Amino acid sequence: MKELIIKDLHVSVEGKEILKGVNLTIKPNETVALLGPNGHGKSTLLATIMGNPKYVVTKGSIILDGEDVLKMKVDERARKGLFLGMQYPSEVPGVVNADFLKAAVNARRETPIKLFEFYRAIESASKKMHISMDMAQRFLNEGFSGGEKKRNEILQMLLLKPDLAMLDEIDSGLDVDALVYVADAIKEVQQTNASFLVISHYEKLYQMICPTRAIVMINGKIAVEGGMELINKIDTQGYEWIKYELGIEIEKDEVDMNKQSIGVCATKEIISKK
Ligand SMILES: Nc1ncnc2c1ncn2[C@@H]1O[C@H](COP(=O)(O)OP(=O)(O)OP(=O)(O)O)[C@@H](O)[C@H]1O
Ligand SMILES: [Mg+2]
Repeated sequence: MKELIIKDLHVSVEGKEILKGVNLTIKPNETVALLGPNGHGKSTLLATIMGNPKYVVTKGSIILDGEDVLKMKVDERARKGLFLGMQYPSEVPGVVNADFLKAAVNARRETPIKLFEFYRAIESASKKMHISMDMAQRFLNEGFSGGEKKRNEILQMLLLKPDLAMLDEIDSGLDVDALVYVADAIKEVQQTNASFLVISHYEKLYQMICPTRAIVMINGKIAVEGGMELINKIDTQGYEWIKYELGIEIEKDEVDMNKQSIGVCATKEIISKK
């Protein structure tokens, strides 16, 4: 991959505009950290780049090495080297994990992978992720624990060797040791000239994978850019300072705005006076 260029991207879901003019360029070997408050469009951006049909592009462009990504089907995007490690990996009963992985690996190759070579690749990746080889014979994600699903996403990444790996909250649900396995896998793929777009709410993963820059999505747009210092500021201070320092009002969910916290485990509805 040379570069992915996103220009003035507007995306709607179920008729509601979520992304409102995203501009972003990702170059080879870059690791971009994507942060932002809940519900502001981070997963929407990744799902749109990967081609989830629920997300409708109403304006703007996504160009990969001079080619129009928006004209490509999902499998074409995967063949071009795009990979999405999902925030909520789906369970697919009836599809054996190993068969799925083999089909995905073969889709990126000219000749099908030999069985022994595939076995060795899956064995090596499973060891790195500390996943039992038995899991390869189970249905994809069915009954996997939260952390196992995330490890399995990274196992896919190791086998597919993407050019741009987009990882959506890959650290959520991982135990402390598994976080290290995931970070090590990312570091290994970083050595291959691949690029990363990584969403996480926590500084810890970013400390381990050393992003080249950080961007913050607010109200469906990239509002702030910086480096590790920006990630650290968000980790310690949250997002409120953006309102005071940059004058950007952070849109909140209507439901949240009508609720007022009155304790640890109770909320009181504010009755509007009309
Ligand atoms: N399939 C969908 N149907 C309806 N609304 C959707 C759908 N997908 C996303 N949205 C809405 O779009 C908005 C942005 O969601 P998105 O998942 O991109 O947020 P996010 O920034 O990834 O948040 P989080 O940090 O909580 O993961 C939210 O208000 C969400 O409810
Ligand atoms: Mg999300």
